[in-house]
Amino acid sequence: MAAEGERTDTDVLRLLRTGTAAEHEAVERSLDLLDPGLDRLRLVEVLGRLHGFWRAAEAGLDAWAAEHAADAAAVTWPRRRRAALFAADLGVLGAAPPRPVPELAALPGTGAALGRMYVLEGSTMGGRFIDRHLATLPDLADTRLRAFSPYGAETGTMWHGFRQAVRAHVADGVEPAAVVTAARGTFQALAAWCRPLARTAASR
Ligand code: HEM
Repeated sequence: MAAEGERTDTDVLRLLRTGTAAEHEAVERSLDLLDPGLDRLRLVEVLGRLHGFWRAAEAGLDAWAAEHAADAAAVTWPRRRRAALFAADLGVLGAAPPRPVPELAALPGTGAALGRMYVLEGSTMGGRFIDRHLATLPDLADTRLRAFSPYGAETGTMWHGFRQAVRAHVADGVEPAAVVTAARGTFQALAAWCRPLARTAASR
């Protein structure tokens, strides 16, 4: 039988996945990055949108990190910052990052910060599929982008480290509900932010 802590740990990670599945699907649908007809113009549009979201999310996480330095160091927060990579990718495609950013809720503590970070870090899972798809597109075959898969061969290690940090905090008393609520709120904000990019089948 699993130990109590273990059962709770499994629950928070499972709850994060199931509790945000609908929002993830909405984002995936709006971005439509696995479209075989994806071109540079569309990619610039998507990267610009994601850059704005990362900027807003990172501003909140930087404010949290300033107040909770040990928690931020334990989850290697500075290494996980990625807005600059989105900006660099836009540069590679000859575009500048657009200015607008979404308004995101403040992060009242480490539980909420981990929930927000879950959304950002989990995207490296899908990022591997996205990069693989981009490599098959003649228009983009020679273009090396960094932001979708920022950790390269270390993707699994970084994701494992993040999950361990969530486990450790829940074992230390962080409420799983605080993590899941922040993750869901973050994903809902992302889904709303990406909705203007959604295309109808007829417009592709
Ligand atoms: C069109 C774009 C996207 C596609 C095709 C996609 C696809 C995927 C896939 C296939 C997985 C599962 C990978 C695995 O289990 O090995 C995944 C996981 C995940 N993705 Fe996405 N994704 C996309 C965009 C995003 C974005 C923009 C975010 C957030 C910023 C995001 C957040 C996540 C999270 C949090 C997980 C981890 C779920 C879990 O295991 O707990 N994804 N994605």
